[in-house]
Amino acid sequence: MASVTPTAPAGAGPRLAPGPRGRFLVGSLFDLRRDLIGFLSGVSREYGDIVRFTVAGFTVHLINHPDHLRHVLQVNSRNYDKQSFEYKPLKLAFGEGLFTSDGDFWRRQRRLMQPAFHRQRIQQLGEGIVQDVVDRVDTWQPHAERGEPLDVAAEMVNLSMNVATKSLFSTGLRGDDEVAAISRYLDTIVNYCLYRATVPLAPPPRVPTRRNRAFNEAMSGLNGIIYRILHERRRDGGDSHDLLSMLLAARDEETGEGMPDKQLRDEIATLLLGGYETTSNQLSWAWYELSRNPEIEARLHDELDRVLGGRLPTVADVPQLEYTRMVLEETLRLYPVPWLERRAAGPDRIGGYDVKAGSLIYISPYLTHRHPDLWEEPERFDPERFTPERSAGRPRFAYFPFGGGPRLCIGNRLAELEAQLTLATIAQRYRLRMVPDHPVEPKMMITTSPRYGLKMTVEPRRSTA
Ligand code: HEM
Repeated sequence: MASVTPTAPAGAGPRLAPGPRGRFLVGSLFDLRRDLIGFLSGVSREYGDIVRFTVAGFTVHLINHPDHLRHVLQVNSRNYDKQSFEYKPLKLAFGEGLFTSDGDFWRRQRRLMQPAFHRQRIQQLGEGIVQDVVDRVDTWQPHAERGEPLDVAAEMVNLSMNVATKSLFSTGLRGDDEVAAISRYLDTIVNYCLYRATVPLAPPPRVPTRRNRAFNEAMSGLNGIIYRILHERRRDGGDSHDLLSMLLAARDEETGEGMPDKQLRDEIATLLLGGYETTSNQLSWAWYELSRNPEIEARLHDELDRVLGGRLPTVADVPQLEYTRMVLEETLRLYPVPWLERRAAGPDRIGGYDVKAGSLIYISPYLTHRHPDLWEEPERFDPERFTPERSAGRPRFAYFPFGGGPRLCIGNRLAELEAQLTLATIAQRYRLRMVPDHPVEPKMMITTSPRYGLKMTVEPRRSTA
């Protein structure tokens, strides 16, 4: 179901996209602060697929149509950089890493780092994931026996952090405590950056306020671990078959130079950020939806029993785990990264409307993934949408949980593999059931997480091989 591309009516003079006028000086700032997704949903319902409004003097365009998204993220992506409210404060912590850098510098880094994410490398990383999952879920057994609920969201964060740190450093970390410390540091750092995004006049990090001190401590903690591992690796040499080995070996095609330590630090911190909350949230929401949809869960179990026959999954099984993939894709449709931002470096025209240089562009996978012209019964959890037949006619940017164009998520294959192997390993062994009346509410920050965790009971299905 593709909708008609909305375009501006013909006429003389600049053609401005429609949208709310907002208040004097502040524009729509308070509406956005109160409920960003609520506000964006409301204005797109009222004004259509491209909406113009102002926020504290800045012009913003919300774009919601697959053709407009393709234009900004792919066709004319060079005109759209990350000098925006949301991304700029992240530079404090992630420097010139892939997520926050721009232009030629970003292009060079992306070229250098791409080989580390080659399919074969990722598959090698996948082999260790199943054992990590088994080790973790072994600790659930006493809960299962006593019928005691677990916070499954916290468990998924722990699992994903383990996979992220092992993929990056293999054996470089000093035990579970250091893995947990990295999660804590990243939490503090990300919350601080988002706070700075909404309070641009907040005192700079060197002023010793309580918030700044917590941020600086988290930064020193994280940097201490990263630099220690970097130095150990430089000293010991060799290929540890992890992402760090690949990053250390990467050489610029033209100059033959490797990355300096500060750049490696920024890239490692960025990959930890990319790998830590995204996959765990996807898995948490998948458990939530499976527990609400027993017939979908039963189909998943049928597939696992048929393909695996009780043995643990391997990377080679992944192509046969089709329904598992569909469940995970549908989960990312309903619970994606809520929004992305860009800034128009030069003037442009989107859907026939003029966009001035300096305008901010808001892109919301959350809204597009629920667009009623693109998705039938958009609120319903229905993995069947992702059969090859039903996916075939869908516009590329109707579904874009990993972004798109040159800045497509570099970790998408690792994330997909991790999610499939984790879901398969756990669902083969346990059914997870929501504790009745436990409040469930999406909390939308950089990703969408369950605000109050997910209290679930663990019912054994069978003992695994
Ligand atoms: C379900 C899991 C994941 C989701 C939904 C996700 C989503 C995204 C999205 C939407 C973007 C584009 C941001 C933009 O255009 O502004 C992105 C970029 C990125 N992601 Fe992921 N991601 C996931 C997992 C990962 C993992 C596991 C890693 C690292 C191992 C990672 C590393 C990155 C990096 C470095 C970028 C920046 C790429 C660039 O601009 O060149 N992500 N991700």
